[in-house]
Amino acid sequence: MSDLAIIAGASSGIGLELARCAASDGYALLICADDPRIHEVAEMLRADAAAEVEAVQADLSTRAEVARLLAQSGNRPPALLMANAGIGLGEKFLDQDIAAALNVVNTNVGGTLALVHEVGRQMRRADEGRILITGSIAGYMPGSFQAVYNGTKAFLDSFSYALRDELLDSGVTVTCLMPGPTDTEFFDRAEMTDTPIGARDDKDDPARVARAGYAAMLQGESGVVPGFMNKVQTVFAGLLPETLLARMHRRMARPER
Ligand SMILES: NC(=O)c1ccc[n+]([C@@H]2O[C@H](COP(=O)([O-])OP(=O)(O)OC[C@H]3O[C@@H](n4cnc5c(N)ncnc54)[C@H](OP(=O)(O)O)[C@@H]3O)[C@@H](O)[C@H]2O)c1
Repeated sequence: MSDLAIIAGASSGIGLELARCAASDGYALLICADDPRIHEVAEMLRADAAAEVEAVQADLSTRAEVARLLAQSGNRPPALLMANAGIGLGEKFLDQDIAAALNVVNTNVGGTLALVHEVGRQMRRADEGRILITGSIAGYMPGSFQAVYNGTKAFLDSFSYALRDELLDSGVTVTCLMPGPTDTEFFDRAEMTDTPIGARDDKDDPARVARAGYAAMLQGESGVVPGFMNKVQTVFAGLLPETLLARMHRRMARPER
């Protein structure tokens, strides 16, 4: 059994906490993010958790960079893959920069698919492995004023359950982590700090969110929505019409300027 855990988007927020979970369980870590600070994060994890950590700075919105990350693992199947890298983008779609909007799709969807496709094949050959995909409860709602992002998360939520089903006759499991609003750098990067949802001061603790996802992955569960109110929101989202959900999302994500 491999002792390797690959964590994409591990430089901050939920991904950093996922890396901490795997480090404290004794896994060797291969962590990745787009910014050079991933190397400082590796230093910190080595010091805090006495973990074996290798860091790769790579832009996971491109297949070439995903391949470069995996080359670093010697293309050996990891025990755990946490496909967590993601980025949001606020504002009305037609007022967004199209390059930035496409970067959200390429990172959240394209990069995740490329990573999971290659590592999933390695795991299927080995007939063992655990995959965690970070989707979102945003995938349950049409996200006016964050339309592209919510679309990517709807894709990932759906994809994760489908892939899990395709792998039922193997030793590989797929788990979808679907957080609600979480206190990370996400809203700042998405330029959404001037929105009601971005300004909320009762967001979830990323460490708790990560621990819930990590535990669900180890148990081989299909998916987890951390937090009672987030679970309630997903239930209502299944009952309400899309027009109403989009209107509700507008109230959360529209900039207050
Ligand atoms: N915060 C929330 O409310 C919330 C709710 C539901 C789901 N999520 C999801 O949770 C995941 C983690 O987000 P977070 O909230 O923890 O935000 P975060 O603190 O901004 O972390 C995002 C991570 O993804 C990495 N990343 C972004 N673009 C990348 C790229 N092109 N290539 C490689 N790495 C990239 C970032 O690295 P760099 O710094 O190097 O770019 C960072 O490590 C995302 O998939 C997000 O969609 C977040």
